[in-house]
Amino acid sequence: MRENIETVAIITGASRGLGQALALGLMNHSTAVITVSRSHDAVLAMHANDHGYDLQQIQADLANPAAAEQAAHTIMASLPATARRYVLINNAGMVDPMALADQLDTAAPITAAFTLNVTSVMLLTSAFLQAVRPLKADIRIMNISSGAGRGPTPGWGVYCATKAALDLYTRVVDAEQHGVKIVAIAPGVVDTAMQTGIREASPDNFPNVARFQALHTQGQLASPENVAARLLNYLNDTSFGTTVIDDIRNHS
Ligand SMILES: NC(=O)c1ccc[n+]([C@@H]2O[C@H](COP(=O)([O-])OP(=O)(O)OC[C@H]3O[C@@H](n4cnc5c(N)ncnc54)[C@H](OP(=O)(O)O)[C@@H]3O)[C@@H](O)[C@H]2O)c1
Repeated sequence: MRENIETVAIITGASRGLGQALALGLMNHSTAVITVSRSHDAVLAMHANDHGYDLQQIQADLANPAAAEQAAHTIMASLPATARRYVLINNAGMVDPMALADQLDTAAPITAAFTLNVTSVMLLTSAFLQAVRPLKADIRIMNISSGAGRGPTPGWGVYCATKAALDLYTRVVDAEQHGVKIVAIAPGVVDTAMQTGIREASPDNFPNVARFQALHTQGQLASPENVAARLLNYLNDTSFGTTVIDDIRNHS
């Protein structure tokens, strides 16, 4: 890491969608960015290379408990210790499996979703807290949640349950007073591959599919770049952490 690095930012799920836009927005000459996804992203690599930014891409399957544990230890054990600010953005997530409750009869996809959306967040947060606590820095954690965790959506039993778990976990970390600012924030409906998958769902599995198709047809989806810029403004604001469960649509 270069000597002039002031911020170290770790972000999961940065190979596309909202996470990629967040990583692009985070990169600058005073920020070292560490990403975690299954795939290496050429867009991020080229952006870092063109501008001389500090980027490390870690490839790990965060839906696999052992791989998530390993990634959390490896990343946090080698964090540079001289920055003024440390940021963890838990963004990686999956909406599958989409099915009504009487069809959620296979453990593996349910377990994978819980591992990615919840367990890996806990593992990364634990290792992050242990690594940064002695550094006396400004420490912020932003968990990318969803409105789905705050109200029932038929067909999203797994997704709603994981995001509700993420919200309450975020409140627990805040209540434990680790000396960090932590927020679970819903990003609104964002034009990413996740939304493409939602629009392609069968109405048998996801009865609300027509609503999401209509939002797309009517141009109601926010761009990842716009939402990422607003999330990063929010993350950098002095008020970050005062509202633990939030929605970016509450902020201009
Ligand atoms: N899009 C929306 O409308 C919306 C609304 C509410 C909340 N959200 C939340 O926003 C976050 C980002 O969503 P998005 O729409 O940008 O999703 P996306 O386009 O599907 O991108 C998901 C990201 O997560 C990574 N990822 C998926 N499975 C992974 C795994 N097993 N291990 C490691 N990384 C994995 C993907 O990278 P690899 O495939 O390379 O691993 C990718 O970079 C999610 O937490 C989602 O729940 C999105």
